[in-house]
Amino acid sequence: MKKKILIISGGISKERIISLDTGKQVAKELRKHHHPVKIVEPNFKLLDTIKSFKPNIIFNALHGQFGEDGYIQTILETTKIPYTHSGVISSAIAMNKELSKKIFIKNKILTPKYFVYSFDKSKSNLISLIEKKLKFPVVIKPINEGSSVNVYICKKKNIMSKLNLLREYKSIIIEEFIPGREIQSAIIGTKKLGAIELKPKREFYDYKAKYNPEAKTKHIIPVSLPKKKLDELMNITLNTHKLINCRGVTRSDFKYFKGRFYLLEINTQPGMTKLSLVPEIANYYGINFYNLIRLILKDASTNK
Ligand SMILES: Nc1ncnc2c1ncn2[C@@H]1O[C@H](COP(=O)(O)OP(=O)(O)O)[C@@H](O)[C@H]1O
Ligand SMILES: [Mg+2]
Repeated sequence: MKKKILIISGGISKERIISLDTGKQVAKELRKHHHPVKIVEPNFKLLDTIKSFKPNIIFNALHGQFGEDGYIQTILETTKIPYTHSGVISSAIAMNKELSKKIFIKNKILTPKYFVYSFDKSKSNLISLIEKKLKFPVVIKPINEGSSVNVYICKKKNIMSKLNLLREYKSIIIEEFIPGREIQSAIIGTKKLGAIELKPKREFYDYKAKYNPEAKTKHIIPVSLPKKKLDELMNITLNTHKLINCRGVTRSDFKYFKGRFYLLEINTQPGMTKLSLVPEIANYYGINFYNLIRLILKDASTNK
């Protein structure tokens, strides 16, 4: 009997649209291979739906807040049904850039210098603070979003206006800007999947560069780096995945500058849309979309 899969997608995060697409692509592939599949929203009826559908495995296709940060995982733990991707604690840590960067630094994983800025505190001396701690340009970003939502590169002259765009968050990350190449790499289970380089035509790898084919971001695979450097990259990627105790698939985002990899973040719910990077990396290394989904399902479990 083919496994019965319940896919949770959509949700209330700013990445809702991407999640719906991830859910749709995964469902299409599973149905092609004769799995009974049901797609649901993470709403009040979720637990009732789980009870009546009785899935063998729950595929978490959510991205962003509530789906990637330990919240939905906590609810899924109560069902005792295996669910895909990382568990409660790992998801919560990985989604929080402040927490995860602290852990990276403690473990000597290079990440851009940063500080946390709280909107409640006076910002009168913010510019001098930046000049003291970092230097311009800087990157401002929410602590727990994804898909480059509300990420901006700021110069001294526009930082105050850009900062206003992030007022909905209590506090944000202000980070040193790392020029250079944009490289991302993935792990499945405990295996190194591979890496990909992105060459956005836009200023940086922002939301449009990620999801709008008209933005014409170049995807380069294999990544042109000496083998020693590629090994170093994949070792950092696997070590980070293990350090945060992640499960299933993760994708880590790096900037590569002057021979050094700067880890921006680790994603525990990487996208599975047509333009998504993990399926593209997997495919290049001989793992088709169905087999990638199967590996993710195989790694599903509770309590981690
Ligand atoms: N410190 C940085 N230096 C240079 N570019 C950055 C930096 N931080 C983020 N970026 C750019 O913004 C994109 C999104 O940032 P990231 O930290 O990965 O957040 P998200 O969770 O939204 O993907 C990156 O892929 C990169 O193009
Ligand atoms: Mg990212």
